[in-house]
Amino acid sequence: MAKGKKTVYFCQNCGHEETKWLGQCPACKEWNTFVEEKVIASSVTSGSRTDREIQIVSLSEVNADDQDRITTGMAELDRVLGGGIVPGSLVLVGGDPGIGKSTLLLQVCQKLSENRSVLYISGEESLSQIKLRANRMGTFQENLKLLCETNLAAIRSVIEKRKPELVIIDSIQTMYSEEVTSAPGSVSQVRESTNVFMQLAKGLGITIFIVGHVTKEGTVAGPRVLEHMVDTVLYFEGDRHASYRILRGVKNRFGSTNEIGVFEMRQNGLVEVENPSEYMLSGKPENASGSVVACSMEGTRPLLIEIQALVCESNFGMPRRTATGTDYNRVNLLMAVLEKRIGLHLGNCDAYVNIAGGIRMNEPAIDLGIVMAIVSSYKNRPIDEKMIVFGEVGLSGEVRAVNMPEQRVAEAKKLGFETCVVPEVSLDMVKGIRGIKVMGVKNISDAMNLI
Ligand SMILES: Nc1ncnc2c1ncn2[C@@H]1O[C@H](COP(=O)(O)OP(=O)(O)OP(=O)(O)O)[C@@H](O)[C@H]1O
Ligand SMILES: [Mg+2]
Repeated sequence: MAKGKKTVYFCQNCGHEETKWLGQCPACKEWNTFVEEKVIASSVTSGSRTDREIQIVSLSEVNADDQDRITTGMAELDRVLGGGIVPGSLVLVGGDPGIGKSTLLLQVCQKLSENRSVLYISGEESLSQIKLRANRMGTFQENLKLLCETNLAAIRSVIEKRKPELVIIDSIQTMYSEEVTSAPGSVSQVRESTNVFMQLAKGLGITIFIVGHVTKEGTVAGPRVLEHMVDTVLYFEGDRHASYRILRGVKNRFGSTNEIGVFEMRQNGLVEVENPSEYMLSGKPENASGSVVACSMEGTRPLLIEIQALVCESNFGMPRRTATGTDYNRVNLLMAVLEKRIGLHLGNCDAYVNIAGGIRMNEPAIDLGIVMAIVSSYKNRPIDEKMIVFGEVGLSGEVRAVNMPEQRVAEAKKLGFETCVVPEVSLDMVKGIRGIKVMGVKNISDAMNLI
């Protein structure tokens, strides 16, 4: 082993590699994160196949079609995965501590073990702890096997011997290979373990779900290469204080990454939220100024959300501004547009903008909503409750077109809204929709007239 053996220093926060110890990581700027690790030539890459075994094929000879996808029985998860699990894929699920990663995956096991063999490997919890969670969730089939193990070699031999169709690894940070000298959770260990699981998934055609912890910045802990190695990266997010959880695709080799899945955390596990708009709008105040309903597209699905703004005179020389759930700089920019284009004196006002429900939205289509909420609060005049707005606001105060206006108007109609304020250029596209009044606005001063 002497040849491939060397020691390098890895940043434990981002996985950056250096040949010498440094106080601050040049990549992620964290202090004191470098740890010396011995790197050995990976045990899995040194195969012993002869040239004769290696075969090349033409594309037409490969059999694969979309029918092979396995549905998980949870429509929200299937949607994020791009229509179901692709056999032989490696899926990384990241998320804050306690958000419900283990719960989600145990639920997938529950559904899939009805007619497939499933192996749940936990390095974090004991069998009785898993049982406690399972008791809350209902009945389980015999096909679900559990294993509490962290030794990579042992796990590998179990998977190779039993060849289950689905394997859950909870979590990658607890797995360790004896061939790597550094501690479990370190960059080399995580990389080595992921490598082994990738070989197993591709080699045996089994699907492996890996749970990954996140750093305080919210990205999966460990090396960045981890995200490159896996096929799909899903993030499980949500407000700690609210019961809903959002599953978002960050990378997907077999589907769109725009889709989100919405779940609600209950006593008996995660329950799919079929109509997220209705869920997000529950509890909207009546007849309050500074509140407006906007529409954002999450993948192919429109989501109605309530935007709230509170504008009040500042007591200090320096006005305070905050944005919760949306981009702070975008809010500042829109306030500057309001000040310049329609002469609103916001310069000495505090402004707080909030997307109700704790969800994060960054689509430019909610610009018009933010603008109208701010003006409504500034003038202290409520906006019609049965109205939704969407449109991107440009620097000259013009309201620009956004994609898929038909779907947005149709969603508003479905939820019983009576008026839609849309960019004027999009009017043509939505005029076919009956039963809801659609108004086009060219610029923000047109929109102001509606308040
Ligand atoms: N009896 C219960 N009733 C309702 N919700 C519960 C109950 N027990 C646990 N939960 C919820 O489940 C969450 C824990 O879920 P889970 O263990 O799946 O999270 P996790 O993401 O795997 O956490 P970790 O990162 O620690 O592994 C808790 O934060 C809580 O919201
Ligand atoms: Mg867990």
